[in-house]
Amino acid sequence: MFGNNKNNYYFCNDYEKSRNEKSRNMENPFKFGTIVEENYFTDRVEEVAYIEQCVKSANHLILISPRRFGKSSVVAKAVKQSGRKHITVNLQQVTSVADLSAKLLKELFKVHPLERVRHLITHFRVIPTISTNALTGTMDVSFQPGVDGTILIEDVLNLIENAHTEQERIIVVLDEFQEICDLAPRFDKQLRSIMQNQKHINYIMLGSQESMMTDIFENKKSPFYHFGELMRLGKLPRGEFHQYLSERLEGCFPEKHAELADRILDYTDCHPYYSQQLAANLWQIGVLQPATPDPLQKAIDHIVTTHGLDYERLWMNFNRTNKWILQHLASEKPLQSGEYRTSTIYSALKRLQKDGYVIYSDHYELEDPFFKAWILCSND
Ligand SMILES: Nc1ncnc2c1ncn2[C@@H]1O[C@H](COP(=O)(O)OP(=O)(O)OP(=O)(O)O)[C@@H](O)[C@H]1O
Ligand SMILES: [Mg+2]
Repeated sequence: MFGNNKNNYYFCNDYEKSRNEKSRNMENPFKFGTIVEENYFTDRVEEVAYIEQCVKSANHLILISPRRFGKSSVVAKAVKQSGRKHITVNLQQVTSVADLSAKLLKELFKVHPLERVRHLITHFRVIPTISTNALTGTMDVSFQPGVDGTILIEDVLNLIENAHTEQERIIVVLDEFQEICDLAPRFDKQLRSIMQNQKHINYIMLGSQESMMTDIFENKKSPFYHFGELMRLGKLPRGEFHQYLSERLEGCFPEKHAELADRILDYTDCHPYYSQQLAANLWQIGVLQPATPDPLQKAIDHIVTTHGLDYERLWMNFNRTNKWILQHLASEKPLQSGEYRTSTIYSALKRLQKDGYVIYSDHYELEDPFFKAWILCSND
């Protein structure tokens, strides 16, 4: 779709030629899919200040939002800006409690040289194997297989606590925290009992599976009930996001960058990830196919087509009720049409929300605007 289709080019005047030449040499100013920082990061001023403030106190922070709203990015920015020592482990990449213990220790070695904490490791009930990775220069940590993970995590978290002081607390970020529920039976209880006595660590727990995170931190029966300050991250504010997109699009679309930024945000409803994805694709078209009459529509079509197979596969696995709900949400038709009982619709919506296909801000909507376009187009 991005091929060098000569039919899409037209004869440019000198000004247009030199502009196209210039933007061809520029790096795509949009980024999506990974943590964004520096030039790729916009706004979140209040959120960054709030997180910084929270870790300056003795409290912990819990940050919840739907997928790809920018949790990891905002926390990375805030902890970096705080100037404090910090380590991050993504629980989605952790396979067991022993693995979590090893990963935490490995991250700690990026903050403190082994010499500084060696004396604390001598107190471990199971001594880890520590080696230097010749390729990356970082330390690799592993524990003997089969050892009881509950001992390891207790020793590692106590080491992190003892290597710091109340004046110099470390920040420990546990990303995708909801995954702890799958690591081991009653692991949440054990973790909480270790953490509640610690005074030298600020924990930041982030998670995207809304109902699971809410269950962990808001359910009275959960060991982590009201463990820290609860913060919810919304979409990016339109004004700032518009300026961010518009300024960057100008290099490629000098005449209509503001209008295109508006259309992107209308289409994605200010969703951080999808807006950046669409802007990145639009930029690509602007550079490679500058004569395209409606480059934004072309970018949308490109994304929908690229993901068509995945969407089809997803669609096949939805049951009839879910398909009906998704179609109605896509075409913005009311759900209370009498076809299904309210309780059936509500529980299906909750499930779809839990699985990340639907999000709720002030109303239920499809999470992915390109999936929405695919549904509309496939069910035409
Ligand atoms: N402040 C921001 N400014 C600009 N773009 C952003 C911002 N925050 C997030 N994004 C966009 O959203 C994408 C996802 O961000 P990030 O990975 O931080 O979100 P997340 O909520 O942690 O996602 P996940 O649920 O997958 O863990 C980024 O790659 C970027 O394209
Ligand atoms: Mg994340």
